[in-house]
Amino acid sequence: MKTIDDLATEGVAGKRVFVRADLNVPLEGTTITDDGRIRAVAPTIAKLSALGAKVIVASHLGRPKGAPDPAFSLAPAAERLGEILGKGVAFATDTVGESAASVVAGLADGEVAVLENLRFNAGETSKDDAERGAFADQLAELADLYVGDGFGAVHRKHASVFDLPKRLPHAAGDLIATEVGVLKKLTAEVRRPYVVVLGGAKVSDKLGVIDNLLKKADRILIGGGMAYTFLAAKGHEVGISLLQKDQIPVCLEYLAEAEKRGVEFVLPVDVLVSADFPDLKTKAPANPELVAADAIPADKEGLDIGPKTRELYAAKLADAGTVFWNGPMGVFEHPDYANGTKAVAQGLLDSDAFTVVGGGDSAAAVRLLGFDENAFGHISTGGGASLEYLEGKTLPGLAALED
Ligand code: 3PG
Repeated sequence: MKTIDDLATEGVAGKRVFVRADLNVPLEGTTITDDGRIRAVAPTIAKLSALGAKVIVASHLGRPKGAPDPAFSLAPAAERLGEILGKGVAFATDTVGESAASVVAGLADGEVAVLENLRFNAGETSKDDAERGAFADQLAELADLYVGDGFGAVHRKHASVFDLPKRLPHAAGDLIATEVGVLKKLTAEVRRPYVVVLGGAKVSDKLGVIDNLLKKADRILIGGGMAYTFLAAKGHEVGISLLQKDQIPVCLEYLAEAEKRGVEFVLPVDVLVSADFPDLKTKAPANPELVAADAIPADKEGLDIGPKTRELYAAKLADAGTVFWNGPMGVFEHPDYANGTKAVAQGLLDSDAFTVVGGGDSAAAVRLLGFDENAFGHISTGGGASLEYLEGKTLPGLAALED
């Protein structure tokens, strides 16, 4: 894989460089609630700009339906990027239309522009190779070189991720190089015990990675919404908690496989429950009730792990040599349900392990809950991407950069 430094040797001054970033940041209205992804890619943009390139930054944000939708505009992200870079950043109100053409034509050497959301064009995410290719052809006209640095989106076979690098001389950006370097370490010989903490809403999103990690990890700790499908698989009542009934057989298989392999598979022993989902806007007190994990009332849902589980998970993390954590333990956006996620983050910090926090939600949680992100070994910008990497899948955006 070529790097930016290779491009620099060949010379990028005066060249139009298309940087595929992942500026998919959480927004409340037009306010960015976590700018981690913008800060992570900014050094690549700054480096190219310092080398005299005309830098064209492109990204998706959210999941608009292939047409412009102001709720998903990248304008706030462009503004934040300008603040981080400490310089003006031009903004094009489209991707392959008149605005993009004129903004790019107006760039002087070292200047930076951000294009509007790539997913406002149906060609970006199309399953049809020709439709995606046609959009990639249009994007290719904007630039001389391509730098892939949107690690969070490398698992997507999208026009700007997969098809465009095939049309332009390309290289991996510094963020992708760092991310891949760290995840590679987790797939090679790791310092043991290797402890994996998985949370988040859906068990189905994590099945592939669990399958793979059962062959690698010494302990797997489960929390978040996905825990309830495992608890149901063990025959417990889970009330109105998140439940993917159709995944129960796979969960049972994994529990059996873990036992066969001697992998500790740890489920919550107590949980905080409520009849109502908390109000994340007002953050009004939610008055959660604490119950044993095998005694969730039929009319209540589990929204965080309880204090005994927090203690148990902290103990399971204490002697770890390596930790990979993906997915919050509960509804961390509400203070009454944030303690489980806090305890796991603290458990990572208290151990001497090499710690990797994978993913959008857990990475955002670490920052929103006030932890020092530099205290962790690595905080990945990719949720799905890091999971699919650890699953051993070929990631289209990385494969395209290899060619
Ligand atoms: C993410 O948030 O994981 C990436 O930005 C990819 O977004 P997507 O799941 O909408 O493709």
